[in-house]
Amino acid sequence: MTPPLDQSKPRFPIQNECIYLNHCGVSPLHPGAAAAARQWDETQMRSGIGVFAKLGDPTLAVRRAAAQLLGVPHDDLSFLRNTAEGLSLVANGLPLEPGDRIVSYLHEYPSNHYPWRLQATRGATLELLPDRPCGSGLPEGQPRGFELEDLERLLRAGRVRAVALSHVQFTSGFMVDLAAVGRLCREHDAWLIVDAAQSLGAVPLRPLEWGIDVIAASGWKWLLGPMGSGLLYTNPRLRAVLKCTMAGADLMEQGDDYLNHAWQPHRDGRFFEYSTANMASAAALAACIQEAQLHFGPECIATETSRLRRLLLERLDPYRFLRVQFPGPGSPILSWAVPQADRVARCATKSGVTVTQRGGYLRTAPHFYNTDDEILRAVDVLHQAVDAVQRDAE
Ligand SMILES: Cc1ncc(COP(=O)(O)O)c(C=O)c1O
Repeated sequence: MTPPLDQSKPRFPIQNECIYLNHCGVSPLHPGAAAAARQWDETQMRSGIGVFAKLGDPTLAVRRAAAQLLGVPHDDLSFLRNTAEGLSLVANGLPLEPGDRIVSYLHEYPSNHYPWRLQATRGATLELLPDRPCGSGLPEGQPRGFELEDLERLLRAGRVRAVALSHVQFTSGFMVDLAAVGRLCREHDAWLIVDAAQSLGAVPLRPLEWGIDVIAASGWKWLLGPMGSGLLYTNPRLRAVLKCTMAGADLMEQGDDYLNHAWQPHRDGRFFEYSTANMASAAALAACIQEAQLHFGPECIATETSRLRRLLLERLDPYRFLRVQFPGPGSPILSWAVPQADRVARCATKSGVTVTQRGGYLRTAPHFYNTDDEILRAVDVLHQAVDAVQRDAE
């Protein structure tokens, strides 16, 4: 049994450099991931192709680890380069006809927007849910969130083939109730496609229970993995109807029988792993999923990150930091409406607390290994940053 997090938190090298609250941007690489990548490279350097005999197939290792994290068979996982690659492979492969509709949200991250826009070349239209306050009380202008009533209205109008939404919005931190979206999609026979770049590794995801057909995510945010690594979960019912849009040697069942050009694509998650992967990156992502996510457990990690966000909330001055708050469970990104958020973020980062601005909000995103002491010190720095920016403006 894993001991409670507060007694067993790992200490990471970045904690000697700064207080890092930017896990919604680019995260520090997990030391176990860095070691696994180095081990792969060293072994390949000394052994060439013998690296596989010595270390095994890292794409299989990462599929297994990610499947365990999501509670799904590893056949339904693919190791890719990023979220956009996963979403593009799905969007381009969906059987779509002129007049078919795809629904997304107005302020999605580009990786979950352009792959759907591209489907206009096949006559499908992308319709965007309008931005709504969603109980936040925030004025129109900056991104907030979307309402399920708007989604239901679009679904009722018919011919919606796919609903493509982020679990957590990268700007406001709005987190959608995926179980409710899943119910609506099933009622209206639409595929539910989720961009989980801002949630996988921070909060538990239950694709089978929630009726999610696709999850695409990046490895270098909440999973603490290498940049340029990504994951794709697809359910077999969806894969059975998807057409193939990228092909190479690794797509085919006959493996390294390279002169056999029979068309025999894998029908499991390898359907999307069309050719040689970045193996060091796969080894690294497998290692950090095992050593952080599976070691501590996604529930424990979510509980701890939520406790750290609460501490930030209790300590940040509400007059200087207006919390962006939505009803429902806490999102991994705690955003703040702060005048000149960009300048405040830069000033805080310069003073040793790494935070970012997106969509006009200051985003704070602690991960499970951050300590209470770091949060308390970050609060002081953030107060000073707001005051300094305000003084400069006067
Ligand atoms: C919601 C969301 N999706 C996707 C990404 C990253 O996309 P990609 O993996 O294609 O670089 C981000 C990065 O900030 C994001 O916030």
